This record gives sequence, C-alpha cells and structure tokens, in this order.
Amino acid sequence: MMQASQTQAPPRPAPGRGPAPRGRRVCVPAWQGLGFEVLARQLSRKETPFPFGVPDGTYFYRARHGIYHLFRALGFGPRDTILAPDYHSGNEVGAMRASGAQLRFYRINRRLEPDLEQLDKLSRSGARALFVIHYLGWPQPMRELVALCRERGMLLIEDCALALLSGTEGRPLGAFGDFAIFCLYKTLPVPNGGLLLQNAGPLRGLDRLEWEGCGMASVGGQTAELVVRRIRGRWATVGGALSAAKGGVGRALRVLPAKRVTVGDIGFSLADVNTRISGLSRHLLKHFDYEGIRARRRANFLRLRDRLQGSVTMLRDDLEPGVCPLFFPILVNDKETAAAALWARGIEAVQFWNHGDPEAAPQEGPDARYLRDHVLEIPIHQDIGFNQVDYAARQILDLNLQ
Ligand SMILES: Cc1ncc(COP(=O)(O)O)c(C=O)c1O
Repeated sequence: MMQASQTQAPPRPAPGRGPAPRGRRVCVPAWQGLGFEVLARQLSRKETPFPFGVPDGTYFYRARHGIYHLFRALGFGPRDTILAPDYHSGNEVGAMRASGAQLRFYRINRRLEPDLEQLDKLSRSGARALFVIHYLGWPQPMRELVALCRERGMLLIEDCALALLSGTEGRPLGAFGDFAIFCLYKTLPVPNGGLLLQNAGPLRGLDRLEWEGCGMASVGGQTAELVVRRIRGRWATVGGALSAAKGGVGRALRVLPAKRVTVGDIGFSLADVNTRISGLSRHLLKHFDYEGIRARRRANFLRLRDRLQGSVTMLRDDLEPGVCPLFFPILVNDKETAAAALWARGIEAVQFWNHGDPEAAPQEGPDARYLRDHVLEIPIHQDIGFNQVDYAARQILDLNLQ
C-alpha cells in the first residue's frame, strides 16, 4: 500500500507544454461504450451476479433518486441525523438533504478512508444512520463500520455508486449494510440506472411509488453516446467526427418538446425523483460479461500501475482480490492543466470531484480539500485495450504529470 507522497517523481518541466505526438490519432474515452458483442451474448444468457439477482432491489433512473426515496421511506426528518463523509460528489448529499434529514460530516483521509476515531465520537451524539462511500471501487473497513453501527444502533448505508462489482473479504460491496445504493451507468454501458438494495428487508413505501417514464429522447440520446464512444475508442478519427455530428443533431433536437432526464450531471431535482430506469437498461443488464468486465478493469489497472510506478504520484496502488477499480487515480499539482494536456492527446482524464455540496464546505476537512484539488482519474475501463493503456502511460510520462 502506498501513501500519496511515496511515488513522487523528481521535479521536471510543468505539464501541458509539450506538443501532442504525431502519428495515428488515439482516443482513450473516459467511460465505457456499447458494442455489438452484447447482441451476441443475448444467445448465451447467464446468471447475473450480485447485486442484480437480489429480491429486495428497486431500480431507479439514477442512484440519487434511490437515496432520496430510501430516507423518505425510512421517515427521516430534521431530528434524524445522517453521518456522511466530507469527501462526496454532492449528488448523494443533495438527495439526503432533500429527504429532510439532518447531516453531519465526518472526515475522509488521503487514503480515502474514514477517520474512525472521529466517527466513533460523532456516532455518540445519537445519529440514526451512517452513510459510507466506497471510493472508486476500494472497500471501506466494513468489519469496523458494521461493528460501530451495531454498537450504536445506527443504520448502515453503503454507497456503491463507484463500486459496482467490487468486493472485500470474499463478499460483494453492498452486502454489508442495511441498505446499499449502486449507480449502474458508471461501470456498465447502460444509458441510465440506479439500484437500491434493501438488505434489511423490503421497505414499505417504495412499492407505492408513482413511477414516471424517462422519455425516448433521454434513452436514445444516451444510447447514441454509448455507441459513438465505443467507436471513438476503436477508431478515433471516425469516432471524433461522429461525436461532433451527434452533438449537432442533439442540439437541434433539443428544441423539440420531448422529456429529457440527464445522467452524469451534478445536482438534485425533485422533479425527476420518480423516474424509473429505462427498459433498455434493464434488458442490457441481463447480457453483460460481468466477470470479464471486472477482469479487464483489474488487468488495465495493474498494467498502468506497472508502467507509471515511481514516476507518478498514485493515490492508491493497492488492489486486493475482488476489487473492481473504476478509474486509476493519480495526484497532480494542477488538475486543470494536466487534464487539458491529456485531452489534447486523446486521453479523457476526469477531474474528480473538484467541489462537493456547497453547504457542506465549512465542515470539510483538509484531506478532503486536498483530494478535491489534486485527484485526476485516468480511464482503465473494460473497453480499453493494453495498447491504449500503454499509450496513456507514455503520454503521462512524457508530460511529466506531478
Ligand atoms: C458517491 C456517489 N453517490 C451517488 C451518486 C449519484 O449517482 P447518480 O448519478 O446515478 O444519481 C454519485 C454520482 O453522482 C456518486 O459519485
């Protein structure tokens, strides 16, 4: 295991100055795309793994809707406190706040783990729930957290939005808590989808939701994006042209009065909370090669780690068995410049969580602030081949990102 500063490279020129290399255009898309192999798999339907086969699961259009409905169904109000991490996307916090619950924030350290001592103290004040995020696939210390919740009579909610298919100690993440929430479209090429698991038994109220559809335009637009992204990853020039054309068509169609619910954005709106997952996402979920997805992500992670070891500051370089990494997180001084330099070379690096929930900012600890300022995500998803991993590694080394 490695602390953030252990792989710091010696000083070299600032990143982003060098020209993009000549030669065939390469693209490493930030997220996975959808290809025709999923059609072939329709013929060989297999069992879907956890969390899909679990009986007490409710599917939503987005995970944040599930979080909102969870706390509403549990009857949380202004006197009920949820302990939530100071390092968060803002969407999950917005959903909890909209449910009417009170929030208190505990600190996350530079290894993406909770400050257990502080959590212990905070939990003595009568909080009703502990909300835990498994960051980028890395598991939180579940034995300790389960024990703490049991001792203090708190509900345990696992946020697995970034940790689908990940596990620890032989069990999948999302199986430890009373409830667990998953964002499906972050790991899988589906146009939308969130899943709320009720490990403690079915929640009354969820069965009476007045569901609304998301509209064809939302599903069509996002599915087109998934297909184009796949093409961009394979044939950068053609894919780039298709992306541009798709953007133009999308803008033109926006004038039509069709319902659209976005994914992957920041914010929380009560207007969308009853939107159900699309039929297409539910269908696709039956046909992915889940074992292959996890294996590919792990292999890409290990290869990139191998290529960058000693030259780049890695946020986490440990990968225990069962972990399914979402991205490869590195630490850089200037995220914006580094991301721009990588994008110029076709690597769609993601600036991870620059800001959280605005109202939570005063309670944010120094480590969360540090992570917001420095974490940059390098794609290692299942659509990326070793040639793309090696290309990304060469560009990162060439740019001397630090
Ligand atoms: C940790 C975490 N929880 C929950 C969510 C909400 O996911 P969704 O976009 O499906 O609402 C996100 C992403 O926004 C997230 O990063």
